[in-house]
Amino acid sequence: MENPVYDYYQQLSGAYDQDRFGNSYGQYLHRQEHRFLSRTLSQYPAAQVLDLACGTGRLLEFADTGLDASPNMLEQARLKWPGKTLVTGDAQALPFAADSFAAAYSFHLLMHLSAEQSAQVLTELHRVLRPGGLLVCDFPSATRRRLSGGHHRKGWHGSNAFTLSGFLDLAGPSWRLVQYQGALFFPIHRLPESWRRPLGSLDDWFCRSWAKPYASYLLVCLQKI
Ligand SMILES: C[S@@+](CC[C@H](N)C(=O)[O-])C[C@H]1O[C@@H](n2cnc3c(N)ncnc32)[C@H](O)[C@@H]1O
Repeated sequence: MENPVYDYYQQLSGAYDQDRFGNSYGQYLHRQEHRFLSRTLSQYPAAQVLDLACGTGRLLEFADTGLDASPNMLEQARLKWPGKTLVTGDAQALPFAADSFAAAYSFHLLMHLSAEQSAQVLTELHRVLRPGGLLVCDFPSATRRRLSGGHHRKGWHGSNAFTLSGFLDLAGPSWRLVQYQGALFFPIHRLPESWRRPLGSLDDWFCRSWAKPYASYLLVCLQKI
């Protein structure tokens, strides 16, 4: 079956880190995501944590197990993290037993999936987490999307966007919201490079303030009930 997202990452794998996170825009976003993970998962030993759609292993320091659909992306992850368990698979049909992990996280995956596919991924994550387990993930903010009037290619990067309440409705009553914040409040890709670092602290402040629904992405931490 044709899968443009799969093909895209299979081809991009060798250049992904540099292409997406080797510039000041990517580093800016990476810092915000990394800080949120450090805060939410500080109590969880990596041995009990899954990185879903781990890609090239950008955030694998928090988990000993990673899964991704793309063998080429995983190959890059293996070069960086030879000791980790890295599995090729589909986020919608996880090859793990129920109650396998105390926590899981997934970054830049749901943005590629439809609402139905995202719901299926959440069902699978709920299954493989232990009772009380934590899930940390991100998705594009529909509130921001409406504000910017952006149109996105269907089935592609950022095609899927949710408000917080829309996402919680999708997840269903077997999850509890622990905390959330925004990421990328300012449209920094439109600003001069020299402004990006100094704007970082202000961006962080807005991303945690009343204005967080207006950030580009929402980072959420849910607990399995
Ligand atoms: C933008 S990359 C994110 C990688 C990593 N999480 C990060 O933040 O750097 C998206 C990843 O999702 C993977 N992916 C897309 N659809 C998937 C699916 N259905 N199951 C598992 N992985 C999938 C892709 O192969 C790719 O590695």
